[in-house]
Amino acid sequence: MQRREFIHHLSGGFGALIFRHERLARLTQLEAFDGDKNDERYWLLVRDQFPLTRERTYLNTGGLGASPYVVIDAVVSKMNELERISETGHSEQLWASVKQKAATLLGCEAEELAYTRNATEGINIVCNGLPLKRGDEVITTTHEHVGNAVPWLARQKRDGIAIKLFEPSAKSARGNFDRIERLISKRTRVISVPHATTTTGQVLPVKEIAALAKAKNLWFFIDGAQTAGMLNFNLHDIGCDAYATSGHKWLLGPKGTGLLYVRKDMLDTIQALEVGAYSDKSHDLQTGELTLHPTAQRYEYGTVSTPIFVGLGAAIDFLMKIGMDSVWARDAALSTAFCNGLQEIPPVEILSPLNQAERSAMITFKMKNIEYLKLQSFLAEKYKLRTRGAGEGGVNALRISWHIYNSFEEVNRVLEGVKEAAKL
Ligand SMILES: Cc1ncc(COP(=O)(O)O)c(C=O)c1O
Repeated sequence: MQRREFIHHLSGGFGALIFRHERLARLTQLEAFDGDKNDERYWLLVRDQFPLTRERTYLNTGGLGASPYVVIDAVVSKMNELERISETGHSEQLWASVKQKAATLLGCEAEELAYTRNATEGINIVCNGLPLKRGDEVITTTHEHVGNAVPWLARQKRDGIAIKLFEPSAKSARGNFDRIERLISKRTRVISVPHATTTTGQVLPVKEIAALAKAKNLWFFIDGAQTAGMLNFNLHDIGCDAYATSGHKWLLGPKGTGLLYVRKDMLDTIQALEVGAYSDKSHDLQTGELTLHPTAQRYEYGTVSTPIFVGLGAAIDFLMKIGMDSVWARDAALSTAFCNGLQEIPPVEILSPLNQAERSAMITFKMKNIEYLKLQSFLAEKYKLRTRGAGEGGVNALRISWHIYNSFEEVNRVLEGVKEAAKL
């Protein structure tokens, strides 16, 4: 166990005090850095902002992102404040301020954002809230994460809608656009695809798909679980109707946070089916009057955890201070170095796009000589790598996620492990 982690494990005041002092000094160092962000020293300072253990190499941000100290501190501090007085801390002003940060990051208006517990909750709100009837068709990929598969399957079972699938091609964005276009029929109502697939991390041409959906009068929903906090984009510019993401992956926020974007003019189309306190602007049981909240807050209801949403705000601040351009530049540099290295190892088959413009920071590959789950165990045991197996759509390969706490040294370490596995 390293010194810092040892101190962290010391129980009680003194250890915690030293620890707090040390990490504040590291934060100050990061904030004072005025050099080039291509300088490795900058990224070492970024790495120091995370309690993430160095005893293993963490390569599963696509599954769960590690939170920096500033996020943990924000949650703990809000929790201490609220628990002392036993209050919820609910405040529309506070919610609006965190949503404003998220809106700046995602390129939309704060009023178009609802808090959710995860990406799946946002997907459910859209899937169940759209006015679909028996026979209506929804286009999606064969590579869906369970979170964007099960809600549509349940709706198919319940309401008789039909799911139409296409196999995403890692070869070309245009190819995927054509596959979607070919599936559109008179009964198509929705296109629901991921921004980046959970399997190969392929970035789909969402702006072009949005234009196609608009031209064909279809609703376009994006499962953005894998892109908020990794890619730099603008939802208004993309032009989708709705987008759902997790706060606990690339955004590095507290676990159990998510965001749902619903374009302003879609709020009355995507029905708020689960409602309660805060979903309404006004209601009266005696007269039967109910007016929903004019913003996406209509999709929120009941008591929520204020500390975790404050933590999500701190995570967004953290990323914005680094700058989303720099975050993506770093993620792209690491994943490209990894992808280039993989191409030199003979039994490796890379499933992610080789065209960098269509690639995210998740690289998926398999090996001809070893089954992917065995490869995963080998890398975990011998090289202490935390990777993720991608079984969706029969891909059966290993997914490696690269984010701002990773380094080129780790890229080399993973490549070393894969080279060793190639000899098995
Ligand atoms: C594409 C995609 N959609 C949805 C999800 C589900 O995210 P959450 O657990 O936040 O609901 C994931 C998680 O890995 C994902 O990769």
